[in-house]
Amino acid sequence: MKSWCCLVYLLLLFTLYRDVNGGKKYKLDLKKTRVFGPGLQPDKIVYPARYFFIQLYDTKGNRIEKSFGDALKVQIEGDTNQGSYCRVWTQVLDRHDGSYIVRYRSYQTCRNTVIHILYNNQHVADSPYKIEDPVYSEDCYCPSGDLETWSDLVGCRTSFPQIQRDLEPFPEVDFDPVIKEAQVRFNQAGARSFCNYVIKDNKVYRRCYGQHIGFNMFMDNMLHSMTRKMTLPDIEFIINLGDWPLVNPKVKPLLPIFSWCGSEDTADIVMPTYDITEATLENMGRVTLDLLSVQSNNAVPWEAKRPQGFWRGRDARQERLDLIALARQHPHLINASLTNFFFFNKSVEEKYGPKEKHISFFKFFDYKYQINIDGTVAAYRFPYLLGGSSVVFKQDSPYYEFFYHDLQPYVHYIPFKRDLSDLIEKLEWARSNDDKARLIGQTGRKYMQENLMPRDVYCYHAALFQEWSKRLKSEVRVRADMEHIPVPQNEKRFGDCRCHRLTRHDEL
Ligand SMILES: *[C@@H]1O[C@H](CO)[C@@H](O)[C@H](O)[C@H]1NC(C)=O
Ligand SMILES: *[C@@H]1O[C@H](CO)[C@@H](O)[C@H](O)[C@H]1NC(C)=O
Repeated sequence: MKSWCCLVYLLLLFTLYRDVNGGKKYKLDLKKTRVFGPGLQPDKIVYPARYFFIQLYDTKGNRIEKSFGDALKVQIEGDTNQGSYCRVWTQVLDRHDGSYIVRYRSYQTCRNTVIHILYNNQHVADSPYKIEDPVYSEDCYCPSGDLETWSDLVGCRTSFPQIQRDLEPFPEVDFDPVIKEAQVRFNQAGARSFCNYVIKDNKVYRRCYGQHIGFNMFMDNMLHSMTRKMTLPDIEFIINLGDWPLVNPKVKPLLPIFSWCGSEDTADIVMPTYDITEATLENMGRVTLDLLSVQSNNAVPWEAKRPQGFWRGRDARQERLDLIALARQHPHLINASLTNFFFFNKSVEEKYGPKEKHISFFKFFDYKYQINIDGTVAAYRFPYLLGGSSVVFKQDSPYYEFFYHDLQPYVHYIPFKRDLSDLIEKLEWARSNDDKARLIGQTGRKYMQENLMPRDVYCYHAALFQEWSKRLKSEVRVRADMEHIPVPQNEKRFGDCRCHRLTRHDEL
């Protein structure tokens, strides 16, 4: 009897202790473990996929920095209005550093929602979390307050230097001359594609110009997602639907144009790229690669990654071809291949091909050094590379996205020259300074985790619209020939969207 009891006790101990950091034993403490994030207030904070974090702690109150595998289970349940079981699709993403992201998506409105977080069938932190108020589907139109109230509620950062910098030339804007001038400058024979948007009484209107206007769906979807959650100020703006920034700073008057990509030679107002915007809206939906999944899908620890530069992509720019040539000269340092030929002619394909099959983005992180080279403009994969478990080598570039100016070389990434002339040297430096390279990778990842999550993509749009609305001096009105773009209606079968947040003050 006695030995049985001891054996059981030992087995229990064994499951709770793991080997962490070179033999030191830490005991996982389920009560000290922290659970936090917007997904714990799903009744108040709505995202397409809600998410929260679990950080493991030991009994001494120290963060645990190793994975405890898939022993953490999260289950979320609730009732629909009709009283049936509410289906909530839940995922636990292991960041392999002692922390986990939990995300979940429901297409229905759920009541009596309970979030259970279990480790070997024991509750973690304050689990179970009970949510009193209804948890609305992202598809419900329930704006609950103005933009500032919403930003406070979700905890947006308060300072956006890039927005200040971009809007500085526009202290007061009368929009009538702006739209006239934009038509003259950019709409010659449909040369450029852009849209003029108006938000009035929280409704979306637009008129687009040019031949390739399909990309307006990203802005439509973002605006709809925002109007479902908050009341936007009345605003009017122009967005550029092309890759290249448009505004020549030497041509007066300077035009305020919102673009996905900026450059040091142009004066466009940048906003999050359509790529990161779609990844936010379609989290757990249409896209598989997003800024949450990229943090978890490669378990290869730093020590086991290959100490080589890695790159895959299309032939969008000469330096990408040069990288292939460099990789052939230094195969021990660089593994690079083109996956598609599109921009250059056949003889280029013969020289730099054959093209290689795509490999999963998550496999990129089998390698320590991720090479980031511009495509036609900034490479929109950069935030994903930062969020993986490697370190990013970034080509010097005049192009930037909305967050690049927050980053510093040798702190968040390792820079190399635009013509790649020092790339080999930089790779060799990283090989002989492994701790430093690793730290840069960790700092870049931390930046991404704290600044490029779905919340932050909404916050950037919100801050930009807020600042912009202060500068618009002309009255915002729906212009002739503008189309109303209605918010897609939530399908009935997904449950009701009667918003108690909208109606509550009427009931009082
Ligand atoms: C380059 O990377 C791919 C994907 O990891 C791998 O299959 C291939 O063997 C590598 N090539 C060399 C020469 O190491
Ligand atoms: C193909 O493109 C390359 C690079 O732009 C150029 O040097 C070469 O002359 C072109 N060859 C043909 C046959 O057009």
